[in-house]
Amino acid sequence: MHTAPRPLGRSPVSVGPLGLGCWPLAGMTRAGVTHEAAVATVRAALDAGITHLDTAYCYGEHGESERAIREALGWGGGPGTTNHIPRDAVTIASKCGIHWEPDSSRSPPRRQVNDGRPERIRAEVEESLVRLGTDHLDLLYLHSPDPSIPIEESAGELKRLLDAGKTRAVGLSNASVAELARFHAVCPLSACQMHFNMLQREIEREVLPWCMSHGVGMVVYWPLMKGLLAAKMHRGQVFPTTDSRHKYPMFNGVEFDRNLDFVEALRPIAGRLGVAVPDLVLAWTAEQPGITSVLFGATSPEQVQEIARALACDLDAAARAAIADAITARGPVASRRAV
Ligand SMILES: NC(=O)c1ccc[n+]([C@@H]2O[C@H](COP(=O)([O-])OP(=O)(O)OC[C@H]3O[C@@H](n4cnc5c(N)ncnc54)[C@H](OP(=O)(O)O)[C@@H]3O)[C@@H](O)[C@H]2O)c1
Repeated sequence: MHTAPRPLGRSPVSVGPLGLGCWPLAGMTRAGVTHEAAVATVRAALDAGITHLDTAYCYGEHGESERAIREALGWGGGPGTTNHIPRDAVTIASKCGIHWEPDSSRSPPRRQVNDGRPERIRAEVEESLVRLGTDHLDLLYLHSPDPSIPIEESAGELKRLLDAGKTRAVGLSNASVAELARFHAVCPLSACQMHFNMLQREIEREVLPWCMSHGVGMVVYWPLMKGLLAAKMHRGQVFPTTDSRHKYPMFNGVEFDRNLDFVEALRPIAGRLGVAVPDLVLAWTAEQPGITSVLFGATSPEQVQEIARALACDLDAAARAAIADAITARGPVASRRAV
């Protein structure tokens, strides 16, 4: 994998090919991820030279992900602070425009609210900065367009935050080409964040070409298909209701079996190269045209250490061809949006 920093669109920010996605650290994908494990996971990423940290205001009901990052970086003082990472040694990306509200009719008793009004964005960013222990972000995304207001209103607030130095670059996540174009006309976009992996490649149709032609970086999530392509799941595995993956078609029934068949097809390809399957998967993802940085999630230092070996993984022509054949054999996948 080419490990040199890659410019994020036309902004002054550069990122490595791999970034730590800090959503699983909030313990909302599955219960049981402790604050200590979250802090240790971020530290393991830094130890491995992975300095692009991706979080969001809504990663955790009370900012658990942002708080874990602050502690791992030693920016908050307090118990366990052993090191202080210089501000310019890391790239901190956060997102605004989605928050949680209590809802006793649901299990767990909360619902996600998409609110992209300027005053809400402003308040969330101020709170994120406090949680993170910094005075600016490197990259601030609108997490998802708010369908109840014109996107220009949200974009205008991100432009004001950019001009005020609260962030060095702006991005938009979970958007269509029309939304990207309208946003970009008000506030210059440096990054777009969408899901992308070997089996979920919808962005290749319109969004990725638009970003490439407008000089906007592409940061992708779900490279491991929420863990499936890490090749540790097994047939018949049932996800408890405390694990949000139980809702996704890709982890249920025939779809799940077919996805596990695909993982089996990757094993000999990885074996021939002498790498683990997740490393093969991430190396392939990071080398796709137009992809700037790949965000992987992890819940332990061990997972990070395994993933970080992808940085040393180089594919050859035979591996690329075998992966393409396996993708074709798998065929279309039942997908579901993240937000
Ligand atoms: N913009 C958006 O709307 C949006 C949406 C989703 C995600 N994201 C970002 O993208 C990041 C990546 O997405 P993601 O975390 O959902 O998906 P992912 O990277 O496809 O999968 C992460 C999961 O893979 C498993 N895993 C990782 N390394 C492993 C290893 N070596 N062995 C076994 N299992 C391993 C872990 O599962 P276990 O939990 O079972 O350990 C981890 O939670 C997020 O963290 C977030 O920062 C953004």
